This record gives sequence, structure tokens and C-alpha cells, in this order.
Amino acid sequence: MNENTTALETLQQTADACVKCRLATTRKRVVFGEGNPQAELLFIGEGPGRQEDLTGRPFVGRSGELLTRIIENGMGVPRSTVYIANIVKCRPTVDMKMEKDRAPDPEEVACCSPYLLKQIELIAPRVIVTLGSPAAKFILKTDTGITKIRGRWHEFKGIPVMPTFHPSYVLRNGGEKSPLRKDVWEDIKLVMQKLNWPIPTQNG
Ligand code: URA
Repeated sequence: MNENTTALETLQQTADACVKCRLATTRKRVVFGEGNPQAELLFIGEGPGRQEDLTGRPFVGRSGELLTRIIENGMGVPRSTVYIANIVKCRPTVDMKMEKDRAPDPEEVACCSPYLLKQIELIAPRVIVTLGSPAAKFILKTDTGITKIRGRWHEFKGIPVMPTFHPSYVLRNGGEKSPLRKDVWEDIKLVMQKLNWPIPTQNG
């Protein structure tokens, strides 16, 4: 086991016991993140949804299925070769009733984001992909909408960052056949170029 793995495991143990914000009172599981501790590529989403809260794993619901297809069928690499994390590790829901998901609020982000920042430091990915507006806003410290900033390179502490649409936004707006899906694939191709990964000919 290398140092990264051990340090990430220690961090995960701390996160598993975290009660820094009110999301700790309703969560079933802390969703720390998963993948290769030395991944070249880190995906950052917003926060766990229902399936993630139940399983303790990131992106395993419907939007997770789309993300997994993009990684495995599109990019042509096993999901386990990248790392997948979120800004907040516990599920934020409207009225805290565990029915409808919502974006994390500023206080929740402030409490939880040190875990993500430490994950980035330990994994030290070559490229970060942010999924959706909240992740892009947090990492890039911008209020510009995702439509304007996606598809272009930005930077976080010297790491190239590619913001793209959140898979759930793609699913809500036409899914696999929508133009947004093509936009995501264009963004992902730029990421693969940057990493010098071979780009499969099929459309991811
Ligand atoms: N949406 C996210 O942003 N993250 C997840 O883990 C699942 C859905």
C-alpha cells in the first residue's frame, strides 16, 4: 500500500465520523469518493444523491450510470483508474427530508470542502473535470454560468481544470441524444488530449 492510499484512508475515517454540519443528522452513509489514489484524472461532482447515500459510493445512481458510460465506453478506461469525488460528502436534501436533492448550501460547502481539498492534494491529479455549476463555482471561484465556461481550460493550483455539464443536467435535457451530451464528449476529448490518452473513434 502506498502513502497516498494510507493518507486517503485516514482522511476517509475522519470524514466518516464527521458531524461538522447538519447533513450529518440525516445521512445514511458518508460518500467520501472512490478510485485510484494516484489517478491522473479526478472528476468532481456536487454531492451524493439517494443511491449514493444508501451505498456510500459516488455516482452510482442514474447520473452515475451516464458518467460511468462516458468513462468506460467513451474514454475506454475502467472507472477504477480515475478518481471520483464530490464537494460535499453527505446528501443535501430539500427541507432535510431525504426526498428531493438540492445543491449544498455555502455553510455545508465551507464545512466539507477541506476534505475535497485534501483529496486533491493527496491524489495530485494531472487534470480535474468539474461536473456542473456548483463544482465549477467552488473550484474556479467564479460566478460565471457553466454554459460560458465549459469546454475551455481553467486552472486550480496549477492543475488544468475542464468544467463540463453535470450528467444529471444532460439527463434532464434530452439525455444520450441531446446536444449537451455531444458537448460533454467534446470536453472529454480535450481532457484525453491533455492527458495524452488515445481517443477512441466511437462517440463517447
Ligand atoms: N450527483 C453528484 O454530484 N454526485 C454524486 O455522487 C451523485 C450524483
